[in-house]
Amino acid sequence: MNIFDRAREKEKSYHEKLYEEAVLFEPGSWLAKPVQTVLDHLDLLPFPDIRVLDLGCGVGRNSIPVAQRIRSANGKVICVDLLPSAIDKLVQYAALYGVSSSIEALAADVEQYEIAEASYHYIIACSCLEHLSSEEAFVCKVKQMQAGTVDQGIHCIMMSTEVKEIDRETGFEEKGLIELNLSTDRAFSILDELYSEWEVLTRRQVQQDIQEVKDGREVLFRSQWMTFTARKGGD
Ligand SMILES: C[S@@+](CC[C@H](N)C(=O)[O-])C[C@H]1O[C@@H](n2cnc3c(N)ncnc32)[C@H](O)[C@@H]1O
Repeated sequence: MNIFDRAREKEKSYHEKLYEEAVLFEPGSWLAKPVQTVLDHLDLLPFPDIRVLDLGCGVGRNSIPVAQRIRSANGKVICVDLLPSAIDKLVQYAALYGVSSSIEALAADVEQYEIAEASYHYIIACSCLEHLSSEEAFVCKVKQMQAGTVDQGIHCIMMSTEVKEIDRETGFEEKGLIELNLSTDRAFSILDELYSEWEVLTRRQVQQDIQEVKDGREVLFRSQWMTFTARKGGD
């Protein structure tokens, strides 16, 4: 199996297990609460009939609170995830939280999913674009997201970069297993260029360390978590 296939398999089995075991908005996992940055940027968008696209939506950690906020303004969240099991759970959670009519959910690989032109006010890609197959696919998807956005619309991109595995005993470092492991500088430089005509609202990175035991060894999974948000047409 090549690196991409191994990374994709690992990604799918990790999320399938987590979504089966953890309950949305309950403590104990990262599903406990939505990402505040996602909600904060929604507040900058006072559009009626707002249309939101959530790429790599998972079980709706962000899509559901977004739907709750835009429901009364006739808003809609289009939710896309690779895993049919995530989409099934999202549909159940949407019913539980009373937002079924504001959510359209479908299982698809974001890389192949065609974003309709000039259709969205807000596009969220939270831990999604690092799962594309190549830098070219990444650039192509961001351009498609841009073409799919109306004037004054906002993008909220969050992704892991520079993913590493560090053996805690020996200090030995190796690349982490993820589909697209961009350096943080490279990811920012691609985004800076692609968004040169947009108003950049947020551009930051924080280090994330997760300790786990792998094959009997204490391992540190280290990455740089990037947040990049921008508004179309601003200067
Ligand atoms: C870390 S989770 C984040 C989920 C959600 N965005 C959130 O913040 O709760 C990453 C999600 O991306 C999905 N995913 C990974 N690769 C994908 C792809 N190529 N196309 C669509 N979804 C993908 C996974 O199935 C998983 O649900």
